[in-house]
Amino acid sequence: MPTSRSHSNPILITGGAGFIGSNFVHHWLNTQESHLINLDALTYSGNLNNLKDIAEDPRYTFIHGDVGDRDKVRALLHKTKPRAILHFAAETHVDRSIKTPESFVNTNVIASYHLLEEILGYWKELDQAEKQSFRFLNISTDEVFGSLEKNDAPTVEESPYRPNSPYSASKAAFNHLARAYHATFNLPVITTYCSNNFGPYQFPEKLIPLMVVQALQSKPLPIYGDGKQMRNWLYVEDHCKALNLILENGVPGSSYNIGSDNELDNLTLVNLICTLLDELLPSSPSRPYKQLIQHVADRPGHDRKYSLDSSKIKKELGWTPTGNFEEHLRNTVQWYLRNFAWVENVLSGDYRLWMASQYE
Ligand code: NAD
Ligand code: TYD
Repeated sequence: MPTSRSHSNPILITGGAGFIGSNFVHHWLNTQESHLINLDALTYSGNLNNLKDIAEDPRYTFIHGDVGDRDKVRALLHKTKPRAILHFAAETHVDRSIKTPESFVNTNVIASYHLLEEILGYWKELDQAEKQSFRFLNISTDEVFGSLEKNDAPTVEESPYRPNSPYSASKAAFNHLARAYHATFNLPVITTYCSNNFGPYQFPEKLIPLMVVQALQSKPLPIYGDGKQMRNWLYVEDHCKALNLILENGVPGSSYNIGSDNELDNLTLVNLICTLLDELLPSSPSRPYKQLIQHVADRPGHDRKYSLDSSKIKKELGWTPTGNFEEHLRNTVQWYLRNFAWVENVLSGDYRLWMASQYE
């Protein structure tokens, strides 16, 4: 267990200007006392508008930088002495990893390796109590386990890795390194495998915000292949709660699945979004929104099904996902409707180029 001394030290997160990272920053400042430092390179998916409301909070510091910049990371660690580090920073979109795998290897493997090396160097210089209480949380994905068949049992933490996309392969590669740094050097690493997150501030290249943003522009809703691929949908706030529990009580050297009970196929999910939009925008000329659904060519190597068994974190750390899926989905859709300025800001950047290269 972390000591009370270490609790006064800050935590450092990487990638805190992205979707899950920025939700984690909000959750942290709402629930914890101690300082949070956010190191982010602000790639296309990093967005300081996600953090505008808390930017001046005295318990928050933003540092613009790359996790692979060893000098910068070393100086930051020695200056701020974090008691824990949560590594969110990554290239995260499967479709982009098919087009440009190199950036995934560069960030998710090589830059992340440099970060890990700097963390090890910093950790080795801590005193015994600080060493024991230090945590490195490696935020990974259920995608490293590969695709399940319809009737397969859900994935457990010890299931074999079978990544199918350059994205999941790059995440799996770093997971092995992180695991090895625990086995070899005793660095207190914990790896988490979460399922598909949804909620506010998600870059609209991922399924749920993409569909909402396309629909709001009366543009086609592209379903890859038959749309029967299954995903396990986790509300991002529930994910943040799980990470806090793991930070406090998770066992170093172990790993935790973080998934929900909401497993549905893409077509069913997109139909639900359309129904919600019909209800929330009763005078829209695009109603019924499902008329915008279009089946398009399938994603190469498209995983049919992910399904996570989260009984370990429930049993050992007392975590449970909250609320019901439809309510969370409704809140999420409403968030994009109410924050259209945020959406417009995203649409004005490189987003157009990506949409043109991927869908036109
Ligand atoms: P995101 O793409 O929204 O954000 C990634 C953030 O990382 C951005 O702010 C970006 O600027 C930053 N970043 C990228 N490269 C960097 C670098 N070299 N140095 C510093 N910062 C850098 O991603 P997300 O959806 O918030 O995902 C966060 C983490 O969770 C990732 O590790 C991802 O693999 C994992 N994950 C996400 C999901 C999901 O559903 N979104 C599911 C499972 C796992
Ligand atoms: P995505 O949000 O990219 O997450 P992941 O591939 O990491 O699970 O996609 C979720 C599901 O939605 C996945 O099965 C692919 C599918 N999908 C579409 O059908 N159309 C799209 O335009 C996108 C982006 C995804």
